Amino acid sequence: MRWHPKVLIGRNEIEDAVARLASEIQRDYRGKQPLLIGVLKGSFVFMADLIRQLDLPVELDFAVLSSYGSAKETSSRVRLVQGLTRPIRDKDIIVVEDIVDTGLTVSFLLDHLRSKKPASMKLCALMDKPSRRRVLVPIDYLGFTLPDRFVVGYGLDLDERFRYLPDICLLEEQT
Ligand code: IMP
Repeated sequence: MRWHPKVLIGRNEIEDAVARLASEIQRDYRGKQPLLIGVLKGSFVFMADLIRQLDLPVELDFAVLSSYGSAKETSSRVRLVQGLTRPIRDKDIIVVEDIVDTGLTVSFLLDHLRSKKPASMKLCALMDKPSRRRVLVPIDYLGFTLPDRFVVGYGLDLDERFRYLPDICLLEEQT
């Protein structure tokens, strides 16, 4: 299939949203040292931009999750492929996710992290597709609400393609 990316959210709009999210987080965590946990691979570009807008001494870790769904669908069988490198007990955690779709992936991770008894835990997501939600996931810091459309770019992929695009794009079939 030949796909043609079409910009949905441009880089300037993304930059403004990341700056707004950073200032909201900064306001809530002043005097603290939160641990940001990025959900790989999709959140790596967002996370890199977010931490450079944050005037806070953050710590970082990453979790790799996988589900057995198709390229565009998450199945209900989510699994932790690679967990955190350090304990999170008594830490202030902010989970950083690229997009919450059905909610299955991030709710699995939040349950897993909660069992490790952090002092607090919040969720920061760049994008939300609320019409697709299958489990309730409260998002504390949100960039954009999207319709039910598949997007790529700014770290997000379709079968590992298009992650490098600087804008968030829709895919159109090329004839
Ligand atoms: P969920 O478990 O259905 O909420 O899906 C979450 C994960 O699926 C995200 O972290 C993404 O990696 C991926 N995903 C969901 N929607 C999209 C999309 O529109 N484009 C690219 N990846 C997506």
